[in-house]
Amino acid sequence: VSSNCPISAMANNAKKIYGLQFHPEVVHTPNGIKILDNFLKICQVKRTWSMKDFVAKSIAKIKQDVDGGKVLCALSGGVDSAVVATMVHKAVGKNLTCIYVDTGLMRKGETEQLKKVFRNNLRMKFKVIQAEKQFLKKLKNVTDPEKKRKIIGELFIRIFEKEACQLGNIQYLVQGTLYTDAVTSGVSLGGRHTALIKSHHNVGGLPEKMNLKLIEPLRELYKDEVRQIGKMLGLPKKITERQPFPGPGLGVRIIGEITKAKADILRLADAIVCEEVEKSGIKIQQYFAVLPNLRSVGVQGDARTYGHPIIIRALTSKELLTVDWARLPYELLAKISTRITNEVKGINRVVYDITSKPPATVEWE
Ligand code: XMP
Repeated sequence: VSSNCPISAMANNAKKIYGLQFHPEVVHTPNGIKILDNFLKICQVKRTWSMKDFVAKSIAKIKQDVDGGKVLCALSGGVDSAVVATMVHKAVGKNLTCIYVDTGLMRKGETEQLKKVFRNNLRMKFKVIQAEKQFLKKLKNVTDPEKKRKIIGELFIRIFEKEACQLGNIQYLVQGTLYTDAVTSGVSLGGRHTALIKSHHNVGGLPEKMNLKLIEPLRELYKDEVRQIGKMLGLPKKITERQPFPGPGLGVRIIGEITKAKADILRLADAIVCEEVEKSGIKIQQYFAVLPNLRSVGVQGDARTYGHPIIIRALTSKELLTVDWARLPYELLAKISTRITNEVKGINRVVYDITSKPPATVEWE
């Protein structure tokens, strides 16, 4: 029994039937892993699964399936696409081409860092498409958040498609779909359907048009397992421990019209938030800056200013689906505020979002 559930666990020991109404796999469940461990013992399951084995077998299978064909991957720089690209690269080497579209809405230094890791260190075929101008042009005068998302998503696919066609003769598309993605978009592993929670921006829709076969080796895994594989494959911590970043990038964190000037301001402020939180050693789920569509009066160096505020958003995850605002130390917030107002031209105020999810969401949009 729990406060909101009349039967949260039940058992028929004689028949060895056990039922739970909570998530034993989340870190917040005391002895959750022990529960799963006991369950496996009762079922007399052979424990033959290991991460190392899984990776080796997946790589061998991809190699066999692809059989010398050409493979394409949209690399966003997020953990999932980075890990999946590295895995497939191990299987097919030069037959894999990764395409990375710089929308102009990436974080500070992101494109350079990815180039360094994938092109220089891992020696992959890693194609960077500079598309900032195209994105900003399409986003001119657009203020509606859903419209912005749609424009960014669609243009991304069009650019990707064009590049893919130019490469010619591609048969496979790699996607970093995880178990949780499969569940939230309505298809679970067993082929049963779960409620549609949300469909995120990805390169879905492409294979149908281009006749590409999908390779999705992470389909049975959770995020923490994907991070483990990333580490095993030698990806740097900066990539395997990266915080979630929305597909449309800074586009969802600039409220109102998106312009280059605003993206540049937000990029700088966001880099300061990230740098300071990381330097403090505090481990939280997500931390970033938001640029709202308003200005207010300030005073800087004896002069009146009429500048933008920056909103700091920092979050800890209480359980699987609810998120709480992080109680960051005042000193850390003070440091971030001083640095942002000193270093980012056009910002004269810094505020801290103290709302949980629900009632708010993580992103502002
Ligand atoms: P919300 O704002 O819905 O965000 O509370 C929940 C989590 O999802 C991330 N997010 C996205 N991730 N593509 C993604 O891959 C997207 O379009 C997207 N939008 C939001 C958000 O950063 C948070 O971690």
